[in-house]
Amino acid sequence: MERTIIKDIVNKIGQEVKLNGWVATRRDHGKLVFVDLRDRSGIIQVVGGDQLGDLKSEDVVEITGLVKERPASMVNEKIATGKVEIGLKEVKVLAKAEDLPFDTGSDDLNVSLPILLDYRSLSLRHLKKKAVFKVQETIISAFRELLTNEGFTEIQVPTIVPSATEGGAQVFKVKYFNHDAFLGQSPQLYKQMMVGVFERVFTLAHAYRAEPSITTRHLTEYLGLDAEMGFISSFQDLMDMVESLMKGIFKIVGEKNKEELNLYSATLPKVSEKIPRMKMREAQEIIFKRTDRDNRQEPDLEPEDEREICRYTLEEFGSELVFITHYPTKKRPFYTFPDPEDSEFTNSFDLLGRGLEWVTGGQRINNYQQLVDNIKKWENKPEDFDLYLQAFKYGMPPEGGFCLGAERITMQILGLENIREASLFPRDMERIDMRLPKKDGKKEKTSKKE
Ligand code: 4AD
Repeated sequence: MERTIIKDIVNKIGQEVKLNGWVATRRDHGKLVFVDLRDRSGIIQVVGGDQLGDLKSEDVVEITGLVKERPASMVNEKIATGKVEIGLKEVKVLAKAEDLPFDTGSDDLNVSLPILLDYRSLSLRHLKKKAVFKVQETIISAFRELLTNEGFTEIQVPTIVPSATEGGAQVFKVKYFNHDAFLGQSPQLYKQMMVGVFERVFTLAHAYRAEPSITTRHLTEYLGLDAEMGFISSFQDLMDMVESLMKGIFKIVGEKNKEELNLYSATLPKVSEKIPRMKMREAQEIIFKRTDRDNRQEPDLEPEDEREICRYTLEEFGSELVFITHYPTKKRPFYTFPDPEDSEFTNSFDLLGRGLEWVTGGQRINNYQQLVDNIKKWENKPEDFDLYLQAFKYGMPPEGGFCLGAERITMQILGLENIREASLFPRDMERIDMRLPKKDGKKEKTSKKE
């Protein structure tokens, strides 16, 4: 008999089926024993007797049985297969599981974050934990689909690189034979170079940040959903693209991930007809008026400022997303295009959502000589950027791009408290799968706490 996938059982009432999967839970009710069987597509209740008695959670089994309609009083509306159950004929154990370190049977997996991560391949079997990555998968595939439809070409770029792009302090140095190399902080320079070839490109690139920070929103390795486009008429075009991308992603997640969103009682972010756009200095002014906190001379928004301005745009415009534009030149990398009206600021933006930065983007300098001068101004050597500069020497249109942090968006859509929950195997200062020992038995020093 061919295997049936659990979600297809609902169409097979009265038929005998063969199922493969894991024992999610077992409940003994005297002579009757109930097992919830889980496969990649869903969960189904199996009803049997002694034959099920020896099964334990996470045993891998093959079950044959009859698909039956459940009595009306026993219907479980919470799951897609809740109207049917399997009357057991035969069970075969394919692999036994050892005793579990925690109970996986509850609706919520109530274990601490370190345990959740230490037992990743087990904790992710829990429906709710697995759901995070089904949502992330949709975000990524929607990003791909939407940009492909807009004429973007997907490219693959290297992550062993010769220089830092986003500022020198945060790079991991790699010993590269007899030379130094770095882990890429961003596919930035490569995606820009490829604008000269394809006009519009995107890439899903792992990015590495050696920030010595332990926060709930930073990883040392994260996935950037990066895009870059040529022939922009102004940097507003880039925000228009991000705006339609975000709306498209929400729509597709809403259609594909209803069950996953329900598990977290999550609602998709509210977005106004047009996402509000305001300059960083305007945002600081608003924050000052609302809170008396005077950060009007600061070069960036503090985390509390980001939360406050999101509260404001939700109240005033009914939008949980807001674009903040015109960050100061000295806070942005060398490739950022200065605001023609005030060169202390740049044609750059962040998209904030629900109190946190989700996206960074901006227009780039596309004039060769201006770029060379800026590299020097940032105290770098143009010869270290030869390959990059080539692309500009031979004709680069006005261009710009952006990067969406995949884990941050997943976290924020589902309302997770810690970004580590949105990374399958998160890397941070204290963990690269194994927990890193502290130096001299002391805790590592951290520069940022939030
Ligand atoms: O703001 P970032 O550093 O910008 C860049 O890398 C530019 N090259 C992007 C561009 O096209 N101009 O990073 C982009 C996004 C952030 O908005 C955030 O969502 C995410 O990447 N991000 C991180 N996510 C998790 N952990 C970290 N340490 C992150 N750093 C940035």
